Amino acid sequence: MGPAEITVFVDPDGEVTFSDLPEDLVEVVRSLDPETLLARGVAAGGQGAEDPGGVEAFDVRPVALDHGEVVLLDQRKLPGEEVYVRLRTAEEVAGAIRDMVVRGAPAIGITAAMGIAADIENAGGEDLAARFEAADRVLREARPTAVNLAWAVDRMARVFEGVRGRDAGAIREALRSEAERILDEDIAMNRAIGRHGADLIPDGATVMTHCNAGALATGGYGTALGVVRAAREAGRRVRVVACETRPYLQGARLTAWELVREGFEVTLITDSAAGSLMASGEVTCVVVGADRIAANGDVANKVGTYTHAVLAHRHGLPFYVAAPSSTLDPATPDGSHIPVEERPPDEVTSCGGTRVAAEGVRVRNPAFDVTPWSLVTAIITERGVHRPGPEGYRF
Ligand code: MRU
Repeated sequence: MGPAEITVFVDPDGEVTFSDLPEDLVEVVRSLDPETLLARGVAAGGQGAEDPGGVEAFDVRPVALDHGEVVLLDQRKLPGEEVYVRLRTAEEVAGAIRDMVVRGAPAIGITAAMGIAADIENAGGEDLAARFEAADRVLREARPTAVNLAWAVDRMARVFEGVRGRDAGAIREALRSEAERILDEDIAMNRAIGRHGADLIPDGATVMTHCNAGALATGGYGTALGVVRAAREAGRRVRVVACETRPYLQGARLTAWELVREGFEVTLITDSAAGSLMASGEVTCVVVGADRIAANGDVANKVGTYTHAVLAHRHGLPFYVAAPSSTLDPATPDGSHIPVEERPPDEVTSCGGTRVAAEGVRVRNPAFDVTPWSLVTAIITERGVHRPGPEGYRF
């Protein structure tokens, strides 16, 4: 049996009602406060899709902390299988981030924070300061481009400094709470991004997006897809064009999965079809996420984003970036200083496990590219819609 979905209705006075609430969930759902319901959504967990509490988000929760374990929805297996993995050490969690069990800038930040909390929870009688330093190092280095990773680890490090001299129980509790706070704040930021961004999406719009900047890439709800969700929640009709996102196919596998299961009208295209759809007037605007936004507004995001930005500019279409402030990196002056991850060649030479490239060919596989601020119409954060000045963005 798959997950049974529940629709949550909110009237203008904030009154919350549900459609088709399965009997066995009535009490569970009624016991949750409306804020929690709205922030996370609820659905009955079907076989293989249970979250630690037996209630899962229908807008998907890719990461949770449960009794000293980091629980990750294995995104490598989607859309074929919904499988959760449970991890106890920072080494294991860093491996999962590297191997793309979890991916997306905010989601890997949250996962790293939870990885530290779990690691310290599972430490025996060791020196917790040494254990923390090792966890900090291995997680920080797991992937280089998304600044959210270092941002989340920095937050955990500040909390650890504050409780360093206290007993192990207090240290564990402080780290656990901070990791949970990072998750909750991310969902709240995404909701706010959605509210601001929805105003940019006209009724009847077709939004092109690249990669997956949805619930799967965040704590829940999503950034670029959060804007799409919020536009629909505001009563607007919105269609999505999802670019497949070679080579790892986040668009085909993840964005399409998220949106189809929520009943969005979503059309999948190859990355190279983006230009012709724009030229034929089928696209209203482009909305993407970001892995790191430099101080001047240059945006690092999934490779191919830059191409879409150039095409959008050529066709006079708005190009929007949606990201929480945890993706802003004031310490990096411009995009030329952003480290771009190079991933293994087999992601390019193979497709779905089958070799497609000629043996012996050389391969480049940069996982991200940098879009200059001048091609970005607006950057939507939880604080509002930012527009560039003559010298770039100021946040
Ligand atoms: O390699 P990935 O899948 O981690 O890349 C993800 C992206 O590029 C997303 O667009 C970005 O992290 C924003 S997610 C809200």
